[in-house]
Amino acid sequence: MQDHPLLAAARQVLEQNWNGRFTKPAPSLYPHQWNWDAGFIALGNAHHNMDRAMAELRHLFRGQWSNGMLPQIVFGDDPQARYFPGPDFWQTEKAEHAPQGIQTSGISMPPVHGFVLWELYEIAEDKEAARAFLQEMYPKVIALHRYFYDYRDPEEEGLAYIRHPWEGGTDNSPIWDAALARMDTSQLDIPPYERKDLQNPKAAAHRPTQADYDRYVYLVDLFRKNAYDDARIYEQCPFLIQDPLFNGILCWSNEALIKIGDLLGEDISEPMQWHELTIWSMNDKLWDEERGLYNAYDLRQQELIPVYTSSGLMPLCGEVPTQEQAEAMLLTLESGHFGGKRKDIRLCPTYSLQAEDVDFKKYWRGPVWINLNWLLYRGLLRYDMDKVAERVKQDSLALLSEQGFYEYFDPRKEAEGEIGCGTDSFSWSAALCVEWLMR
Ligand code: DGY
Repeated sequence: MQDHPLLAAARQVLEQNWNGRFTKPAPSLYPHQWNWDAGFIALGNAHHNMDRAMAELRHLFRGQWSNGMLPQIVFGDDPQARYFPGPDFWQTEKAEHAPQGIQTSGISMPPVHGFVLWELYEIAEDKEAARAFLQEMYPKVIALHRYFYDYRDPEEEGLAYIRHPWEGGTDNSPIWDAALARMDTSQLDIPPYERKDLQNPKAAAHRPTQADYDRYVYLVDLFRKNAYDDARIYEQCPFLIQDPLFNGILCWSNEALIKIGDLLGEDISEPMQWHELTIWSMNDKLWDEERGLYNAYDLRQQELIPVYTSSGLMPLCGEVPTQEQAEAMLLTLESGHFGGKRKDIRLCPTYSLQAEDVDFKKYWRGPVWINLNWLLYRGLLRYDMDKVAERVKQDSLALLSEQGFYEYFDPRKEAEGEIGCGTDSFSWSAALCVEWLMR
């Protein structure tokens, strides 16, 4: 695969989006450093430039808060960068734990860093340097996980909640719809704001709606009014969700922390306890036997959110299900919901093909995303489902080579209009393409 024609093009995207300190997720729409993007980008770079992969993660963790929270955005200082909400809106200087002199947002993102570190170690030729890097990063990632277990799991179930759709990484997923709809914008005090994500006309049509943004902004305002105090936010926040994608990733990273800690001779009892409890609770609380996937849970309403999104399949990557449950998930993937048996569909749509409101051009409401495909691919391999894993990989590579390194893709082969959607030159699409081709 090393002479695959896509490889040089993918590396070029990563090179172009590198600004000397970190890699922007995309040239203009996302001009700062994003948390889980940085993890996927480091993984892609690790295959040909390990120093840069390490620099990427070091830069991200410079933004870590003293309570362990790793922010969703670490802001760069490019005066041309047009992004809302910027540091003046987040006002994280109000937070007791925010770092001095480094501007960040005030929420987190799915904790990919543990498994990314382990993958980096496996890829590295110079194991001594890689081990030193693990030594440096291990306490930071442990602190991040400890933050989730100490502050985002108040009932001590082992399930971390997110308090903003941006924390889940899947901004406008149908999973969040009901919780957001309960926030009546006519009754909410929403501070004035100006979006900056609508400048690219092609991307603008598919971005989250104004009503979505009003609620995103309301939540940020609530956090800053509470000086980012987790206990107060937990009491007041209308949006508190335990997401299977987020917690599935947490499991994979817990497992990686156990391996890293073991390698470094650390006491690994804490990550072992986390790992066991989260897997147990995901199966006890979020597993849906009838539908063959994991649900999210709304902590405010005290109810499951039974929508068919591909987030419900992602716990495969953290080896959360048993082989039997995984077989049921495979049936779900191959059912009419995700089109795994259809020749005219490219895996894996993010939302059921049969949902009335599926929208194949709208971010997380139907399109294929390369990062979720990569997580699904790795998950399927864990259960020896090599054939369908290979299909996920080949569908992804076909989209990337036919369309380019877009942010996301219409899953229908015969779709009208654009198949490559959102911004192009998207870093994680390129990075995970490299990872697939070099592995
Ligand atoms: C955005 O601004 O669209 C990002 O996805 C938030 O993380």
